[in-house]
This record gives sequence, C-alpha cells and structure tokens, in this order.
Amino acid sequence: MTKIKGIGREVCEATEFVTIVTTGDDGPHVVGNWGEYMRVLGINEETLIFPAGYYHQTEKNLRNDSRIQLLVASKKVQGSHGPGQGCLITGTGEIITSGDIVDKVKAKFPWARGAMVIHVDNVKTQL
Ligand SMILES: Cc1cc2nc3c(=O)[nH]c(=O)nc-3n(C[C@H](O)[C@H](O)[C@H](O)COP(=O)(O)O)c2cc1C
Repeated sequence: MTKIKGIGREVCEATEFVTIVTTGDDGPHVVGNWGEYMRVLGINEETLIFPAGYYHQTEKNLRNDSRIQLLVASKKVQGSHGPGQGCLITGTGEIITSGDIVDKVKAKFPWARGAMVIHVDNVKTQL
C-alpha cells in the first residue's frame, strides 16, 4: 500500500489536471478537476479533496460502487525514461455536502455544492 508521498506527491504538485474515473451501470465514467484546486485544498498522504460543483452522475456511481481511479501527470517531473511522469491513484470516493471539509471547500470555492473526498489506497507510477 503506497500513499501520496515521494514521486507521487511531486506529480500531484505539478499536474495541470486530474482525470477521475468511476463505474456506473453503463461502464466507466470519466470526469475532471484541476490540479490547482486539489493543491489549494491540501494534498494529504491519504486523502484528496476536490470542489464538487456538478458530479451528479459521479455521486450516483460512488453510492453504488465507491471504487475510484485518478490519473495525474506532468512533463515537469522526471520519469524512468525521460521527462514526464504520471501516477495512477486508486482508492474509494464519496461526495459530501456538509461538515468541516465542505465548509473549508466552500470558503475557497463559493460555487461548490460539496466536496469529493478521495481515500487513497495506492499510488503507482506509469512511466
Ligand atoms: C479540467 C477540468 C476541471 C473540472 N473541474 C471541476 C470541478 O472543480 N468541479 C466539478 O464539479 N466539475 C469539474 N469539472 C467538470 C466535470 O468533469 C464533470 O463534467 C461535471 O462535474 C459533471 O459530472 P457528472 O458527469 O458526474 O455529473 C471539470 C472538468 C475538467 C475537464
């Protein structure tokens, strides 16, 4: 089990956007978020938080199957074969609409209806 540290943290610190995949009745469902938003809310070794403005389908999917996958990447981080590294982050996710975390998210992103909270299980480099 690897948490967000070392190279994984470096990539999270540099990624421009985050690809987020859940599973629905029709198969995989892909949404996005900005790396900057993740950084503003603080990169924790075991938890990532994103502002949820929409994510209605994602919320429905997570209620039925909480597994989630994130892809982060940046050319600014060195990979094994040259410039560029990416990490697959796997874990479980939930969308919450009240509580301390949501208050913190709304203080930075007043338009947010809630927070997407990712509980990280594993981080694996891809390059
Ligand atoms: C780079 C990028 C950043 C995004 N940032 C957010 C965001 O901060 N919050 C959000 O709710 N949706 C964000 N979206 C839109 C979502 O990808 C998605 O289209 C929307 O939330 C609808 O989700 P749903 O299909 O689960 O209902 C972003 C999309 C991209 C491509």
